[in-house]
Amino acid sequence: MKKPSVQIVRTKKDLRTQVTEWHMSGLKVGMVPTMGALHHGHLSLIREIQKHVDKVVVSIFVNPKQFGPNEDFDKYPRSETTDIIKLNEVKTDLLYAPDVGEIYPDGFLTIVSVAKITEGLCAAKRPGHFDGVTTVVTKLLLQCLPDVALFGEKDFQQYTVLKQMAKDLDIPTEVMCGKLIRDEDGLATSSRNIYLSAEERQIALEIPKTLKQIISEIEEGKLPLQEALDKGNQHLIDSGFKEVQYLEIRQSDDLEPLTQTFTETSPILARILVAAVVGKTRLIDNMPIKIYF
Ligand code: PAF
Repeated sequence: MKKPSVQIVRTKKDLRTQVTEWHMSGLKVGMVPTMGALHHGHLSLIREIQKHVDKVVVSIFVNPKQFGPNEDFDKYPRSETTDIIKLNEVKTDLLYAPDVGEIYPDGFLTIVSVAKITEGLCAAKRPGHFDGVTTVVTKLLLQCLPDVALFGEKDFQQYTVLKQMAKDLDIPTEVMCGKLIRDEDGLATSSRNIYLSAEERQIALEIPKTLKQIISEIEEGKLPLQEALDKGNQHLIDSGFKEVQYLEIRQSDDLEPLTQTFTETSPILARILVAAVVGKTRLIDNMPIKIYF
């Protein structure tokens, strides 16, 4: 028997028609927005959202507005044919793959911008990046109107910003965070990992190792927080990273610096977050950490 293949639509009108039909039949719809070059991290998001909804829409759109002038927009991997094979493997119901004119028609003038959470961390080195992300995701969510949308935990600041945005703008979609997926060697999956040479990949592996080391030093009280972070930062530089853009611990819920109070039995639930450059590739990662101090 021939396997059903993913339905492909390229216009917001066709997307809306299908999603409305599903909603009218009482089905719950989930969306996983992506920029394509799908890897097993994306496929895991699709499998995860399938547990919450009846139909899954995946969008593929390499959003020019979230790349800076010196970033990799032109060279960002694009592989629609292989992406479709992967979407079929996980039984995705619908692929929305609009072109730039469908998302940003001539005369487009609006920017969606979230304050505060978009300061610092990734925003410091990528001015305008989050405005590009919030603008496109607002459009994608309003075009599709899914009940649930899932974003990967690897981009934890992005998830936090998008959750706030959907709440502030009354977008009727529940924004959820999908589990961070690692390759067998521990590196967080990313479409940009294909840029890494074998030697750079070995260096890149120091990111998860260093985060784990810092977490154990802090959680077990072996080192004061700042000392553990400084040591980790130096270790990454010594391992061959060209630059550590940030290595910080923030509160999990709002990504503010640590100000919450804790008790012996209830620690602050925080996140350790890092961005570092190896060769020409910028990598990010994060892990949960408990702070008792
Ligand atoms: O995380 C991504 O791939 C992108 O930032 C997103 C959310 C699809 C918006 O373009």
